[in-house]
Amino acid sequence: MGQVKTRWYKDAVVYQIYPRSFCDSNGDGIGDLRGIISKLDYLKELGVTAVWLSPIYKSPNDDNGYDISDYRDIMDEFGTLEDFKELVKGLHDRGIKLVMDLVANHTSDEHEWFKQSRSSKDNPYRDYYIWRKGKGKNGKKPPNNWTSRFTGSAWEYDETTGEYYLHLFSKKQPDLNWDNPKVRKEIIDICNYWFEMGVDGFRCDVITFISKEPGLPDGKWNPVVVGDEHFVIGPRYHEYIHEVCTESWNKYDSMTVGEGQGITIHNAEEIVGEEREELDTIFTFEHQDADFYMHAIPRKFSLKKWKSVFSSWQKLPQNCWPTLFYENHDQPRAIPRYGKMEYRNEVAKMLAISIYFQKGTPYLYQGQEIGMTNFKLDPKDYKDIISTRVYNSAKKFFGPLGAAIAKWGLNKRARDLGRTPMQWTAGEYAGFSTVEPWMTINPNYKMINVEDSKKDENSVFNFYKKLIKFRLGNKIIIEGSYKDLMEKSSKIFAYERALGDERYVVISNYTDKVVKYKVPEEYKGKESKLIMSNYSSSSDTLKDGKLLPYEAVVYYVKG
Ligand code: GLC
Ligand code: CA
Repeated sequence: MGQVKTRWYKDAVVYQIYPRSFCDSNGDGIGDLRGIISKLDYLKELGVTAVWLSPIYKSPNDDNGYDISDYRDIMDEFGTLEDFKELVKGLHDRGIKLVMDLVANHTSDEHEWFKQSRSSKDNPYRDYYIWRKGKGKNGKKPPNNWTSRFTGSAWEYDETTGEYYLHLFSKKQPDLNWDNPKVRKEIIDICNYWFEMGVDGFRCDVITFISKEPGLPDGKWNPVVVGDEHFVIGPRYHEYIHEVCTESWNKYDSMTVGEGQGITIHNAEEIVGEEREELDTIFTFEHQDADFYMHAIPRKFSLKKWKSVFSSWQKLPQNCWPTLFYENHDQPRAIPRYGKMEYRNEVAKMLAISIYFQKGTPYLYQGQEIGMTNFKLDPKDYKDIISTRVYNSAKKFFGPLGAAIAKWGLNKRARDLGRTPMQWTAGEYAGFSTVEPWMTINPNYKMINVEDSKKDENSVFNFYKKLIKFRLGNKIIIEGSYKDLMEKSSKIFAYERALGDERYVVISNYTDKVVKYKVPEEYKGKESKLIMSNYSSSSDTLKDGKLLPYEAVVYYVKG
């Protein structure tokens, strides 16, 4: 096999689209492919070079498309394969690549494979899923104590054959049995099918869960989820990923990014080391508020932890490529977590500077580029399966107090908060649709929207535009070395990127107070100039001084 991989993702900026909430073209209140097509010039203007599309395949939408009933066709609400082809062409014509979501740990229970599988014990598809006899005298107890990421047991009893099937997510998302070579072949064929259609890569959903320990032993007790230690990077994980990689991914000039729930810096090299021919890159969640199954329990932000997670990725050998992100469709909006709302504009830009001057592939989640924020959702407006379940069970088991506590937590952490419709204009339905959308719009769309942001030269949007342009093709940012500065500070995140005798010194104040700092000795007397900041008053050269609330500065230093 010739060397087809250019590893283009090392000099890219990826924009994540959650199609349901991006743009509605036909007035049914639901975002769709033609809506995306109508915004391609917008993406081009922003300057991103790739798009990651959350799932658009056929799905009964128990988990908004992460439950697929046909991997080779498009969800009716989103459009048709013809629309999809036009989308690919429209992106490629603008020099933008397309990364699809590959949900391969599980399917929908409405997938033909599962319908066959559940129909009888000797059906040829039986072994596509994980079926076990129940425990206890009459076999009516789940086969083990694993819990679903969406609360409750990970097993569902099925009357037809009197056995249980495994579902690490909802009961409408049965886990595929990757130990069956036929299943792996199906996944390989699906990847190749989309590559042939022009797709440039895959974001691999909960991919670290695919290999389960034989015997499916009980998990250690844990208040949040039980069983992880028996399937996160299970015994045959590497073998299976290598197989898909060599049979599909590496035959194309592709990129893959895995979703690494449960992965820490400690196993980074074995997961994304280039020579292994497995995943190219991975999202880890150590720096985030919580892993995705804790969506009702806010965790305090610690700058020390945040710094140490990012820096340890930066210090890995060159063959391990980091991903840079702080929002996605499973997280609430970031700004309120990292800063005070009265500094929305400064915080958004500070985060952008502080993270996107690092080495790695940056991701931007739709709406992040205009600084979208959270708001208090009414429980009747929860749409996400986790929010509704957590809220309803808290109410059922603990009454009004339980409901109030759940609501408090969800108002900070719910996945719904990151899924409200994209705010395009200050007009009706935020320009997202011509009718009431499927999900509540954040009422601040009158102030925060694309149309106004484009006109305001100090907007978050125009800042991102500048930053993206600056970053693409910039060798110091792409290849330069990384060094922590002011490591002990619990207020400032500062680091240096260097290549040859050129350096960037990036200093960000993560507090709402004025913070003084001293320039490290090694920069004293060197020529320096300010190249980016989020205040017009920032010092022109690098010298001892102070940072205003959430101020972030980047200096170019020669020598
Ligand atoms: C991933 C997705 C999430 C989904 C889950 C199950 O974590 O990002 O949205 O609910 O997998 O597919
Ligand atoms: Ca629509």
